[in-house]
Amino acid sequence: MVKIGNDVSVAVAHLRAGELVAIPTETVYGLAANALDEAAVVRIFMAKNRPQFNPLIIHVANTDQLENLGLFLPDKAKALAAHFCPGPISFVIPTSEMIPGIVTAGTPAVAVRIPNHPLTLSLLQQLDFPLAAPSANPSGYVSATTAMHVAEQLGDKLGYILDGGECRVGVESTIISFMEAEPRLLRFGGVSLEAIEAIIGKIALPEEGYVDNPISPGMLAKHYATKHKMLWGNPQEILSANSDTASEKIASITFKESLDLIPATNQFILSPSGSLEEAASRLFGAMRMADSMNIELIIAESFPEEGLGRAINDRLKRASTI
Ligand code: TXA
Ligand code: MG
Repeated sequence: MVKIGNDVSVAVAHLRAGELVAIPTETVYGLAANALDEAAVVRIFMAKNRPQFNPLIIHVANTDQLENLGLFLPDKAKALAAHFCPGPISFVIPTSEMIPGIVTAGTPAVAVRIPNHPLTLSLLQQLDFPLAAPSANPSGYVSATTAMHVAEQLGDKLGYILDGGECRVGVESTIISFMEAEPRLLRFGGVSLEAIEAIIGKIALPEEGYVDNPISPGMLAKHYATKHKMLWGNPQEILSANSDTASEKIASITFKESLDLIPATNQFILSPSGSLEEAASRLFGAMRMADSMNIELIIAESFPEEGLGRAINDRLKRASTI
């Protein structure tokens, strides 16, 4: 049985020994290892069954720790860090020779982030190395927002799960690249595009074809995927197009409203009060619950394309077959 607890010193000991530890962050749980220890980082890829061409984000406690690694934020990233860090935003910046190539997938860029969770910040302060940490889920599956989610799927591959409760934000960090002349958003996430542009002005959006992977665009188009088939769009239209599926074999994920045709026990209404933040925080939990039910189809509503609605749509779109 994997050990679960909230003892930071136990997490420190496992990480110093080169083992994997699941860490809580404000976005989703991370599957962490010493980013400077190649053998430990290899264990992350093995545990997740993650393709090695997909690079990892490194996590630090503060910007001083970045400088000790030979990493420097460009001015616009500094301005964003001053507003949002610690918080749900990651910066892709030029890497340094201290960062192993396995972390960056051999690219000249490394992604860095300062997560906002008291246990993990305390952990990072006690370590003299950064933590490489992808989301703590098998590659391609829905991310984990509770310690139980992690234990269910990766428990046998971990030294320890640092239990920091339910993740507050619930979708991954927003990723911005500073590798071109102008900053470019690579992934919608916990800090909205509007909030970013209010600080540094208009930024470039993800390139057509970029799907959460800088090296093999297109390969990870299907991601965050449930085992049951999922369809994303206008629920009424999807329902009419699938009228041959019995309603008790359908689960639904909607923003504010219920659907007349689906049994109430199969419905996940993410925020009856209409808060996109609340909806984001409940998204992955609902996807996992729906996936555990005895059904054939999950219907997910298209959310408003604003604020965290963009991050929610991005995840639902890639989890779905349409
Ligand atoms: O909120 C988060 O960011 C969570 C928590 C645990 O911190 N982490 C997370 O990691 O979502 P992961 O590995 O599931 O997603 C990171 C994404 C991947 O799509 C990866 O391709 C991209 O970041 N990425 C990492 N390093 C990169 C780099 N050097 N250049 C471009 N993209 C990079
Ligand atoms: Mg992930």
